[in-house]
Amino acid sequence: MSLPGTVDAADQRAAKPASAQSAGGPEAARALSERLANLTSLKDRLRAVTEAIPGRVTFSTSLGIEDQAVLHGIAKAAPEIDVFTLDTGRHFPETLQTLEDSENVYGLKIRVMFPDAKEVEDLVARDGIFGFRNAVANRKACCDIRKVRPLNRAVAGAKGWITGLRREQSVGRAEVPFASWDVEHELIKINPIADWTLEQLESFVADNAIPINELHAKGFPSIGCQPCTRAIRPGEDVRAGRWWWEAKENGQECGLHSGPASINPQAAATATETLAPRQ
Ligand code: ADX
Ligand code: SF4
Repeated sequence: MSLPGTVDAADQRAAKPASAQSAGGPEAARALSERLANLTSLKDRLRAVTEAIPGRVTFSTSLGIEDQAVLHGIAKAAPEIDVFTLDTGRHFPETLQTLEDSENVYGLKIRVMFPDAKEVEDLVARDGIFGFRNAVANRKACCDIRKVRPLNRAVAGAKGWITGLRREQSVGRAEVPFASWDVEHELIKINPIADWTLEQLESFVADNAIPINELHAKGFPSIGCQPCTRAIRPGEDVRAGRWWWEAKENGQECGLHSGPASINPQAAATATETLAPRQ
């Protein structure tokens, strides 16, 4: 639904011929992945994505440094790509400032997705305002309601979904492909800077004067929700500041990038079906 006097940006960007709306599937994703591997510049990769994928291509930005680099590429080479962020309601003020700075610098709009208010109210009633600290299942339920479900709404109907995932970020991300078929969302998921090193990323940001979250300079290489993110110490893993109180085997992931098999079915089921206020 549009506000009075506005045109829905996503609908506007999706305005491509209906005849060209069918490309997709594992084969198309594999071909695109190969094509992207043979291109070196981010701009060329983004152009190749929009050429290969008829229909809406959307980019999820956490407003972290990786995503700021991708946003720069989109603004310069493929502004038709739809851009959205998930406002969990628990962000650092510096993250929201990065959102506003980016809109001003690039003259584009970032769609802001919010979680369902009733779901958040029921979750907090059941688990408490910091309930995610008490159990991994609570934490996954919170990420599910505040991130995963709004993401599912944001990508619904899109044919391509771009992220800023990099292989170097963690052992679990070491195999991130340039493009793959996302069975759950029925679209091609694209990671155009999958092969970038941190050094490459930082040079790109500096060379192009890209606005970034000021927390990066204060020991936060990876930034999520404020209560679930801390600064890291020298020598620590770049994702060590995310959900640091949980055992490593939980994978330190929020569920945005897990396939259907690895999404915690228990957390999702508890979140939807049995939310009841705490006694
Ligand atoms: S997370 O899964 O641990 O939160 P991370 O912060 O490394 O992920 O970001 C990886 C990618 O997930 C980002 O490049 C972005 O595409 C997506 N992402 C993460 N958080 C958000 C958010 N709040 N809004 C939109 N996209 C996000
Ligand atoms: Fe909730 Fe923390 Fe996940 Fe944010 S990162 S959605 S506050 S559990």
